Amino acid sequence: MAVDVLLGLQWGDEGKGKIVDVLSAGYDLIARFQGGPNAGHTLEFDGKKFVLNTIPSGIFFENTMNLIGNGVVIDPITLKKEIDKLKDAGHDLLAKKNLLIAKKAHLILPTHQLLDAASEKKMGEGKIGSTLKGIGPTYMDKTGRNGLRIGDITLPDFKERYQKLVDKHTAMLTAMYGEVADFSEREALFFEAIEFLKQFPLVDSEHLVNDYIKKGKKVLAEGAQGAMLDIDFGSYPFVTSSNTTAAGACTGLGIAPQQIGDVIGIFKAYCTRVGGGPFPTELEDETGEELRRIGHEFGATTGRPRRTGWIDLPALKYAIMLNGVTQLVMTKADVLSGFDKIYACTHYNYLGEKIDYMPYDICSVSPEPVLKEIDGWNEDLTGITELNEIPEKLQSYIDYLEAELGVPVKYLSVGPDRKQTLVLH
Ligand code: GTP
Repeated sequence: MAVDVLLGLQWGDEGKGKIVDVLSAGYDLIARFQGGPNAGHTLEFDGKKFVLNTIPSGIFFENTMNLIGNGVVIDPITLKKEIDKLKDAGHDLLAKKNLLIAKKAHLILPTHQLLDAASEKKMGEGKIGSTLKGIGPTYMDKTGRNGLRIGDITLPDFKERYQKLVDKHTAMLTAMYGEVADFSEREALFFEAIEFLKQFPLVDSEHLVNDYIKKGKKVLAEGAQGAMLDIDFGSYPFVTSSNTTAAGACTGLGIAPQQIGDVIGIFKAYCTRVGGGPFPTELEDETGEELRRIGHEFGATTGRPRRTGWIDLPALKYAIMLNGVTQLVMTKADVLSGFDKIYACTHYNYLGEKIDYMPYDICSVSPEPVLKEIDGWNEDLTGITELNEIPEKLQSYIDYLEAELGVPVKYLSVGPDRKQTLVLH
């Protein structure tokens, strides 16, 4: 099969960027299939660190092409900044000709951001924890059949189409708040960025990806956020606005399900969540604080502290089922070094019953985790390169997870650098 899918199995921030980067050399095309600049894929190699928001994580490899797929929503201003920053660091994507953009990807307008902020403000305490980047309102315009796509920027009446949508947004904002914040500065940046992006190939990406497949080339579909934030299957309404699960790779790139080969599911050795919403295994104590401190659990894009907790097996099993995961990658095992005991949530106590699955509603009724105690390990993992250096207790933890989850842990990540990765199987 020509297309492998790589995605997060928890609430995002599992370390997908690093793993795509590790695997990129084996692929001809890396294609982002959903989400927007709320993703913050962090890559580290040769002592340098890069955070990619919209650009696929394969751009550092010579022979790998990269595609921003039709399922992604693009903020031209952020994308231009990202490209400029990479150029400053010596990676000129225009010169390298290694970035393609799907014509059918939707555009985030400055007024989408105003709508995002207005909606969160209106929700008050019940707010979703949006990154306020206009992603939700852009997907709403997409499904509402009002959106603008990046392919529209070359149309002679693009400005009129833009204005029509902006007028609709300002009318909505006026109705909600009686006023609209000044966005003229951002609007100028938006049009400047639009001109800049015209230099990149805007492609009929569904044809392009299928041509890659026909020619027997290897494609990696790169997901953002995590399965538990999926618009259909996540902890609704505290979710993101797109399908983060494997099905999203089909709609977000225009590929048929039978083209999908391996589904590579990434999870942290523990668990984190950013923003609002339920988090059954959350630790609101010193241990949680320790995990946050040692794991540097602060958002790559927003800097927001991430909530931390133990690994949640019912949630992971659910994510594995939804995605048809064939290979697992465990990241951040190094963060757990030094914890005398670690814990895995095996079941939930929920409405007076002990259950081992993800129930329909975890927002109004909070599942109480049933925890299994596991011996921790003390050894520093960050320098290990050989399988025989894996501490016995970490190996037991991996064996336990493989037995519970029914899928092999193929890769083990023991630090943020590309090199800090072991192949277990
Ligand atoms: P989203 O799509 O936004 O969910 O991002 P992501 O899954 O790519 O994760 P992100 O890069 O935001 O967060 C992971 C963080 O952990 C980054 O700072 C990585 O450099 C770091 N990281 C990845 N793997 C490891 C690991 O094995 N150990 C440690 N200590 N850090 C890691």
